[in-house]
Amino acid sequence: MTVPKAHLKLPYLLHGGDYNPDQWQAYPQIIDQDFTMMPQAGVNTVTVGVFSWAALEPEEGHYDFGWLDQVFDRVEAMNGRVILATPSGARPHWLADRYPEVLRTDEYGRQALFGGRHNHCFTAPSYREQTQQINRKLAERYGQRPSLLLWHISNEFGGECHCDLCQAAFRQWVQKKYQTLAAVNEAWWTPFWGHTLTAWDQIHSPSPIGDTNLKGLNLDWRRFVTDQTIDFYENEIQPLRELTPEIPITTNFMTDTPAMMPFHGLDYQKFATHLDVISWDSYPAWGNDQESTADLGLKVAMINDYYRSLKQQDFLIMESSPSLVNWHPFNRPKRPGVNRLAGLQNIASGSDSMLYFQWRQSRGASEMFHGAVVDHHGSTATRTFQEVSQLGADLKQLAPVRQLPHVPARVALVFDYDNMCALADSEAYADTTKQYWQTLQQHYAYFWRHDIPIDVISPQADLAPYQLVLDPMHFLMDQAWIDKVADFTQAGGTVVGTYLSGVVDERTLAYLGDQPQRLHELYGVQTTEVDTLYPHQHNGVHYGDQTYPAQDYCEVITNQTASVLATYTADFYAGQPAITKNQYGAGTAYYLAARTDAACLTALYHQLATELDLHPTYPLAKASSDISIQVRGDQNQRYLFVMNFGETANTINLTQPLTEVLSNRTYPAGAQELAPYQVLVFHELIK
Ligand code: GLA
Ligand code: GLA
Repeated sequence: MTVPKAHLKLPYLLHGGDYNPDQWQAYPQIIDQDFTMMPQAGVNTVTVGVFSWAALEPEEGHYDFGWLDQVFDRVEAMNGRVILATPSGARPHWLADRYPEVLRTDEYGRQALFGGRHNHCFTAPSYREQTQQINRKLAERYGQRPSLLLWHISNEFGGECHCDLCQAAFRQWVQKKYQTLAAVNEAWWTPFWGHTLTAWDQIHSPSPIGDTNLKGLNLDWRRFVTDQTIDFYENEIQPLRELTPEIPITTNFMTDTPAMMPFHGLDYQKFATHLDVISWDSYPAWGNDQESTADLGLKVAMINDYYRSLKQQDFLIMESSPSLVNWHPFNRPKRPGVNRLAGLQNIASGSDSMLYFQWRQSRGASEMFHGAVVDHHGSTATRTFQEVSQLGADLKQLAPVRQLPHVPARVALVFDYDNMCALADSEAYADTTKQYWQTLQQHYAYFWRHDIPIDVISPQADLAPYQLVLDPMHFLMDQAWIDKVADFTQAGGTVVGTYLSGVVDERTLAYLGDQPQRLHELYGVQTTEVDTLYPHQHNGVHYGDQTYPAQDYCEVITNQTASVLATYTADFYAGQPAITKNQYGAGTAYYLAARTDAACLTALYHQLATELDLHPTYPLAKASSDISIQVRGDQNQRYLFVMNFGETANTINLTQPLTEVLSNRTYPAGAQELAPYQVLVFHELIK
């Protein structure tokens, strides 16, 4: 494994995005126009080369770098920066024709034809060789260019291949992990239905026409897909590390929309350790009819916190649409002001960029109607161009922010990729209501709405910086995590766990008897039964002096050492514990046996925030939780991003006069109104 070592040296906050002039080679006047318009939009960075392999190497071994040389020249003439992509996201026709093994095979065993993108075999030696060759050429030619800022590897890695080469690689992976077939048979519980493996070559990836029910096989296949993708990526970057060790490396991660959860196909928490810089592509469905802008803003905030937490450092928004996309069920343009709100929200969360897909709308093919900074009309007078230019000017004002981190969090919310896969695959509970990430969002909400910084961490993270760890629906838990969270609590930390936790081990085998014992000791309770409710059924939880609704999941638990904070109000377990609190060493462990509503979580977290003295980084009275206040700063100065996600005006109350950076004027103490979607950024020197 290559050890990541290069650091991003940012001359400014990045503004710009995907630039694809290879499709406009027959229209030189368009390219001239691009470089006139870019400075007008405040563009200082372009991402080039994504999907450009056919333009760079039209025939095997014959290269055409002329057009890309010109992009570098012209970007340098405007003192801009280039994010250079390696082109492996889409291969040239000749490559697939000559090396058909690069074409992916699906889980039914069908090999793909040429077409599309993001669909190559991660194992095929010829693709690995070819990508190294083209990447070496790029590094040799552009590695010393002063404008080269960052390598962008491929594009949105994802998917899987089931060809014979991948089957062989998977078998090796399994063999290395388990050593003996007996261990595999135990881990995958193959004697059920008599699927006992008697030879290594019987191992096959999960398939709808083969095995899909062996939970351990399914999870190990997911782990293998992540490892094989990383292995492919490591192979791709090898010439870049060799020739340009000082240029940092990223690959753009993606997010499932509309849930705004990390792409389910890869373990990004593992992948992140191989990147120098985290970047992700942000396409929230702003202006949809299912949720308020503030509720969507909360989801965006959480996924930003997740990406920031991957390396505990600033990240980049690699792509976003300045207006609409072409792949949501309904493709609605951003409302006036929302591009600015979204862009500044990203900066507030720790992004050092707002980059778009794409600079200029394509004339044909798949994404010709996707929003772009410059549309088919080609004018600077469009609302989109004007709003992008406005944000470009704002980011210039905010340039010093790139040196300042998002303030550290004392609260951590745990997200576990293996757990997400195992829970979804569990053939248990209910099909539609498990909703792991959505449940994490519900726990996150209190902290976002109260401006209390919070990280979204993996079970591998160090818990030392935190006072409070939220660990909901942790169905799959290994002993290492149980020990870590128990040690954390024993030493004085506070943990909140919930229903459907500690059910299976890392192999997805159910814990037997009193296991996992330390988890039961931590919470002081043990689950005896899970009541899965139909969507229209409810129970109640009596907590404090109120009754809150409980839905979806109500566990019947036996209390061993905890004190009971809340009890069920109905059904055969009425009066039995629903929320408990257990003293464990010097710390405290709360257990929520039922899924409650937001009001109940608010009441609980309000109590915890008070007890633990968790407060906003900057105490600023606000009239509504539709206003969010996020802070980037250090011991000398801070920037307060005050963002109104509300569809109506909302007020804040300044306790002292503060300088607003975007308008460059001083706001007096007292009430200040923010228009819908308005953002104010205050700068404060700390004496
Ligand atoms: C059927 C099958 C059993 C088992 C049950 C589960 O009855 O015969 O093997 O799968 O369904 O409900
Ligand atoms: C992804 C891809 C881009 C483009 C955009 C469209 O992020 O990386 O190439 O397809 O989606 O939204």
